[in-house]
Amino acid sequence: MISTDVLVIGAGAAGLMCAAQAGYRGRKTIVVDMGKKPGRKILISGGGRCNFTNKNASPENYLCKNPHFVKSCLSRYTQFDFIELVERHGMPYHHKTLGQLFCDNGAQDIVDVLMTECEWAGVDVHMRAEVLKVSKTEQGFEVITTDNHYQCQSLVVASGGLTMPKLGATPIGYKIAQQFGLALLPTTAALVPFTLHQHDKERFDGLSGISVPTTVTSENGVTFKENILFTHRGLSGPAILQISSFWQAGEAVTIDLLPETPIDKLINGWRQDAPQKSLKNILTTVLPKRFIEAMVSQQEITDKAINQLSNADIDALSHYLHQWQIKPNGTEGYRTAEVTLGGVDTDELSSKTFEAKKVAGLYFIGEVTDVTGWLGGYNFQYAWSAGWACGQAV
Ligand code: FDA
Repeated sequence: MISTDVLVIGAGAAGLMCAAQAGYRGRKTIVVDMGKKPGRKILISGGGRCNFTNKNASPENYLCKNPHFVKSCLSRYTQFDFIELVERHGMPYHHKTLGQLFCDNGAQDIVDVLMTECEWAGVDVHMRAEVLKVSKTEQGFEVITTDNHYQCQSLVVASGGLTMPKLGATPIGYKIAQQFGLALLPTTAALVPFTLHQHDKERFDGLSGISVPTTVTSENGVTFKENILFTHRGLSGPAILQISSFWQAGEAVTIDLLPETPIDKLINGWRQDAPQKSLKNILTTVLPKRFIEAMVSQQEITDKAINQLSNADIDALSHYLHQWQIKPNGTEGYRTAEVTLGGVDTDELSSKTFEAKKVAGLYFIGEVTDVTGWLGGYNFQYAWSAGWACGQAV
């Protein structure tokens, strides 16, 4: 039996940040994780360069039943605190777009920063240790893993969500919450590509790889202005991943394929400059050729010379290009999703310390809780903020 002050389940973003903070406070801290190496999701994130925060992160970039919870957490340890940390470690990084910060060298740099912090703080990290059972004792908690028995005063559950089971995602965090009577909000895959119904799949067959700058709007009016990407399974790209967090089964999404310029304005210009040109040819100057050819061959777009387009033709084209509606069949699910929506109800937790209100000494941080960020570094920022706050309290 190993005794420790603090046991953290999960050597991911939230768990490592929390452990280092607890260690710096002089608390004997051990992290257990079933994986071979720490920070496996960090390593694959951001295409291997980890979009580790967002300069513009604010509570509006998160989905949570209780927005005040997110506000409180983000304000105590901000993106600028994390930027200061990586700079202190001399980690090179760059700004890409929309406030997103990425590692110059690779995501390993972020894992190195966290592991160095843990080392300096005297934290022990035990890998290949799967948590099998947790029970309450008089002094705190007993945790049985595949490698040992642990006794701790404070238990931090930072075991992540359900995405990418092949990277070691397990429902252990939700099970522990249930075991101690904490409410859970239903979980679903988010920041995830859409799959399409068979007829749409056939229509878009051959468009795989095409990326189009758009605005995408959900039925409840949430809009993102980013690219969509046709894939051989359906639709992906940043705009689709973003909107997937707001999409419910059976709903449509509306895509503006020309968000910068109304098509009727373009046609007015073309009427002056190229009245004889076919609509099909001229549309390929503003949208991908393969997409236009497919839509014309499916008679979604009527090909005529520009000077022969009637007002009704222009209205129909405008509706088609600016309010293109797609009803996804579903999503690719946890296999490819970046995050899990829902989880441990934040009403059950202190917004300052992340301790369960009903169970002294038990804490939940990171993706296992009902806080989900947009795409763009927001999810790691929440993990850093939650890990830091909890690390001050355990
Ligand atoms: P995380 O999942 O990181 O860690 C949980 C740990 O618990 C894991 O190491 C796991 O092995 C361990 N564990 C689980 N069950 C266990 C058990 N029973 N016993 C022991 N250990 C157990 N976000 C972002 O902000 N920017 C980005 O660029 C990306 N990119 C990205 C790409 C991809 C492909 C994915 C899947 C996700 C992202 N994300 C992201 C999201 C981000 O990875 C995610 O929000 C954080 O990793 C969540 O951190 P946590 O520490 O909460 O869980």
